[in-house]
Amino acid sequence: MAGRSVVVGVGHYLPERIVPNSEFEKTLDTTDEWIRTRSGIERRHFAADDETTSDLATKAAEAALADAGLTADDIDAIVLATSTADLTFPSAATMVQARLGMTKGFAFDVQAVCAGFVFALSNANALILSGQAKRVLVIGAETFSRIMDWTDRSTCVLFGDGAGALVLEAQDGEGTAADRGILATDLNSDGRYKDLLYVDGGVSTQSTGHLRMQGNQVFRHAVEKLTKTAETALSRAGLRCADVDWIVPHQANIRIIQGTAKKMGLPMENVVVTVQDHGNTSAASIPLALSVGKQRGQIKPGDLIVTEAIGGGLAWGAVVLRW
Ligand SMILES: CC(C)(COP(=O)(O)OP(=O)(O)OC[C@H]1O[C@@H](n2cnc3c(N)ncnc32)[C@H](O)[C@@H]1OP(=O)(O)O)[C@@H](O)C(=O)NCCC(=O)NCCS
Repeated sequence: MAGRSVVVGVGHYLPERIVPNSEFEKTLDTTDEWIRTRSGIERRHFAADDETTSDLATKAAEAALADAGLTADDIDAIVLATSTADLTFPSAATMVQARLGMTKGFAFDVQAVCAGFVFALSNANALILSGQAKRVLVIGAETFSRIMDWTDRSTCVLFGDGAGALVLEAQDGEGTAADRGILATDLNSDGRYKDLLYVDGGVSTQSTGHLRMQGNQVFRHAVEKLTKTAETALSRAGLRCADVDWIVPHQANIRIIQGTAKKMGLPMENVVVTVQDHGNTSAASIPLALSVGKQRGQIKPGDLIVTEAIGGGLAWGAVVLRW
């Protein structure tokens, strides 16, 4: 017997406002054609002015709880991945906790930018395996529209807002790769690459700041690091790329997604792709893709999934799970 963290519910929320690429043609020297061919993005959702990250997160969490047939009373912990919390403190996670009417347990944020959901999942898994929680809500939620420089065409066309959530539950498994639940994780960071992708402001530097990125440099790291972390996590589970039913990648750029699948030796038929509709929603992109992938009928119980993500830090990692 072995403890496993099994996904028993999934849900997501996207803000109402949908912005097509053509809208940027009005204010920037860019085209729908450039954005589509270089990134794969066709549209993204932006939060309303009075809509915050914890609003999006709460709606995604409610959808995941409903999918699991559970209520907030059944949850022991909330782990929320975000780089765009409503306030400097308290955590967005505690705000979601209050909104859900959850008066026990504990809640905290995890900040690993676009790799945030992979870090949150790994932390939630550790809480379950160490017996500190039986059921954990794991949320990725972002309002990256708040940190865009709307005059920088190389970044502002790439990002969007949204939220996704999973409910993880402690269950017994056999200790083999045939078990449902999280089978292995791999986390990495290397702070020497800070200047490739960062926000040029923050509390301690006394401003909010804007996202700055050397896109082609990030690109150069992405395919290699994502393939390696996915393969490392798979080998920790005693599995190979050929065993994977679905790659559910961080949705930043279709060319990174295609390059990673190719390096892993898997066709695009085995990849859940949502980047065309959501853009890069940072820590929200993987749970959004898991939820949409289930809705589309792509992801089914028993499927072997590898999620992988890279972002500012640089920070990157992968989680292997059986749905
Ligand atoms: C950002 C990205 C789409 C740019 O694509 P690219 O093929 O690398 O393009 P480059 O950055 O080399 O820029 C090529 C040219 O397009 C221009 N360009 C940039 N943004 C543009 C836009 N929105 N519209 C039109 N032209 C644009 C650049 O100014 C550059 O022009 P120049 O050659 O005259 O200097 C790509 O690098 C990328 O996706 N990188 C990874 C980003 C990422 O995933 N980040 C998040 C990780 S979490």
